[in-house]
Amino acid sequence: MSVSPVPTAGSSAENLLTSPPTAAGTSGAAGTGVSAAAGAGAGGATAPVAGSLPCSVTKALVTNCQKCHGAQLVGGAPMSLLTYADFKKMAVTKPALTVQALALMRLNDAAAPMPPGGMISAEHKKTLTDWLSAGAPTAATGDTCTVAPGDTADTDYKSGLTAKPGETCYNLLNHNAQTPGDTTPYSVATGEHYEQFYSKVPWPAGMVATRFGSKLDNIAVLHHWLLFSSAKALTLDGTHETVSGSQIGDTARLLAGWAVGGDNVTLPDDMGLELPASGLLNLQWHFYNQGTTSAMDASMVQICTVPAAMKKNIVSMTWLGTENLSLPSHQTATASGTCLNDSNAPITIWAFWPHMHKLGRRMTSAIKRSNGMLETVFDKAFDFNHQVHYPQQLKLMPGDTITSTCTFNNTTDKGVPFGESTDTEMCYQFTFAWPAHSLENHASSLIGASNTCW
Ligand code: HEC
Repeated sequence: MSVSPVPTAGSSAENLLTSPPTAAGTSGAAGTGVSAAAGAGAGGATAPVAGSLPCSVTKALVTNCQKCHGAQLVGGAPMSLLTYADFKKMAVTKPALTVQALALMRLNDAAAPMPPGGMISAEHKKTLTDWLSAGAPTAATGDTCTVAPGDTADTDYKSGLTAKPGETCYNLLNHNAQTPGDTTPYSVATGEHYEQFYSKVPWPAGMVATRFGSKLDNIAVLHHWLLFSSAKALTLDGTHETVSGSQIGDTARLLAGWAVGGDNVTLPDDMGLELPASGLLNLQWHFYNQGTTSAMDASMVQICTVPAAMKKNIVSMTWLGTENLSLPSHQTATASGTCLNDSNAPITIWAFWPHMHKLGRRMTSAIKRSNGMLETVFDKAFDFNHQVHYPQQLKLMPGDTITSTCTFNNTTDKGVPFGESTDTEMCYQFTFAWPAHSLENHASSLIGASNTCW
């Protein structure tokens, strides 16, 4: 979509959106309903704030913010960031601050960055920081833009994954009845809750995943999902239940996941991700319905597979970190665990996926080379509500160790131990690496283990 040159003064975006198209003076733009094209003229006399976003700012917002802060608010984002006027309002949660002031703080907030996880290019971060630091001025005359607010590239979430030649993709659908094969949309109650959908492993033995992702239906009520293998009885196939928190459940293993703003995950061509051969899957959705009535959702999680023999390198997920943690009340604390490459071959790490609970703030991983050199290979803010995969290839040579350190801020009045419910804490740095299982320390999983390598 192209947008006309932006005038220096005119009706505010909000005014434009509710006015007849003729109220905007700039030809060709009014009909788009696009705020950056707000027209010049006296039509905006009643507007509280007049101005337009510079094009560079619009582009940075489209790419980094509007997936959540769009016309439709997603995943608990409190306000839209679509127009110039949006930045001049007072913040929803901190009414003493303007949105522009809070945006500047959150963009550069190491502990709770925006976008969540700090996933923004240095260039876009600078564009936004410079503009906000300058007091978020209106666009210069003639600042034109081919990108319009709301033009987020992220619309393919509705189309989902389509099998490529040789692949078979499996859909795990959200549904309402307690029976296998049911396709009635799931009725999402108002407020927030976790629902676990159980199904038998649908793929035959000997398959690996090439990609996983989601086909999202009612994006306004979705927050995140985690897919686990489960040791529960196969008779649960087709049923679902509400659970109180994000419990992983006995001997469950995390296979895949997604959170609002996240993307589908594709493994590099030479790699396939190990999958359980049989048994039960537990798909745990976190729903967040901010409406006043229940909403229907028919989203699905998708796993695309090929026979393991088609892939050169089989990747398995290893849980690095520690289960030996105890967080004192009202304090920041760290916990860490170390794993060794005790094989005689290099281990290739393809991606990291940090996992803590609500008090988790940061994950770092450092490799100690066998010659004593220390390299920090991962250092990211953590946000429970936005758990992100970080593709990152690196090699752990024989004799190298990798230490993963979680930082927590226990803001509660109680000491918090390790545990599975979201009121307790975890410290896992999930790694995807090959050869499969080579990073494991061959000790059986012990709750309370100081170094988890399993
Ligand atoms: C993946 C979704 C997502 C993306 C992308 C995102 N945000 Fe947010 N944002 C949220 C959520 C959820 C909240 C509320 C929870 C919180 O404050 O952490 C929030 C809160 C905020 C707040 C605080 C508002 C208040 O009233 O407290 C600001 C400011 C903000 N975001 C700015 C931005 C900016 C600027 C960008 C882009 C550079 C961005 N966000 C990208 C989801 C997102």
